[in-house]
Amino acid sequence: MTERLTISPDAVERAAERIRRGGLVAFPTETVYGLGARADDSASVRAIFAAKGRPPGNPLIVHVAAVDTARALAAAWPEEAAALAAAFWPGPLTLVVRRREGAGGVVAEATAGGPTVALRVPTHPIALALLRAARVPIAAPSANRSTAISPTTADHVLKGLDGRIDMVLDGGSTALGIESSIVDVTRSPAALLRHGAVPLTAIAALVPTLDLGAAVVAEGQRAAAPGSQERHYAPRARVRLVPAGAVASEVAALRSDGCSAGALERAALASPDYPSVVLPGDPAGYAAGLYAALHRLEDAGCDAIVIAAAPEGDAWAAVRDRLRRASAG
Ligand code: TXA
Ligand code: MG
Repeated sequence: MTERLTISPDAVERAAERIRRGGLVAFPTETVYGLGARADDSASVRAIFAAKGRPPGNPLIVHVAAVDTARALAAAWPEEAAALAAAFWPGPLTLVVRRREGAGGVVAEATAGGPTVALRVPTHPIALALLRAARVPIAAPSANRSTAISPTTADHVLKGLDGRIDMVLDGGSTALGIESSIVDVTRSPAALLRHGAVPLTAIAALVPTLDLGAAVVAEGQRAAAPGSQERHYAPRARVRLVPAGAVASEVAALRSDGCSAGALERAALASPDYPSVVLPGDPAGYAAGLYAALHRLEDAGCDAIVIAAAPEGDAWAAVRDRLRRASAG
């Protein structure tokens, strides 16, 4: 049984103790819920991979409470790392740096045996309280089964992982709704590996030479962030991405094929005759509601979900990325 804890100082203390003893605890961050275990212990980290059904070649993000702690886990701290950490930590940015070898550090299982480690200082108060109480770095991928939709509530976590993890700290809905942006500062120039919750323009303002090529993975190509394979964030339902004006006709076509179809849109029809979730027309508002909307349509029993494509432009890059992945395969 997975225990669901409502937030209190005592609950955070118990969750930290469970992590210290090698357990698996899901917790809220400002982006999505993470599935945490101590990053300095091989058995604990292997348990994350087992609970998620995650391929062992896909490394994890290691969360710490302070910039200095992150630095201590890195073998090198380039200028871009210092600038990005100063600007965005605590917050929804992950930095890939060279991993420091040696006792007390991050175990090889967390980095998939590689020479680099992904580090993040989250800003969510519960995540920070948990990290401080645990006094160990916490490896935490999104708290979903591998390839399922990321969780933005404790209910979403339990939908995929009930009975497979020890606890979930229920901190309500996460604010940002999509995962952290990932920047690899071991390369020169530094490279964006994943579009995410920090707007691209904000990162590029600090790192004007930022290489964007690695964040776009063409079909069949190996991703620089191994988890960014095409089919990802995929709901059980079939997802069709269509121009905004074509949603209703696509739903109708799918239904005439016998599918139960729902839709995710940016502007409401007066009264659609299909399950429809309308998300805000601004990129941050849209991102905040996206995964919850996909979960809702999946839970409504839709076996096909039609999504109105997002607008062009840098501000929508992270949303377009997640929609493309949801509809791939
Ligand atoms: O917002 C987030 O980042 C959430 C919360 C829980 O912090 N975490 C998250 O973790 O999204 P996950 O495991 O779902 O995605 C981590 C991504 C994967 O694509 C993985 O391949 C990449 O980070 N990654 C991790 N370590 C890496 C490394 N050393 N080099 C390159 N990519 C790495
Ligand atoms: Mg994930």
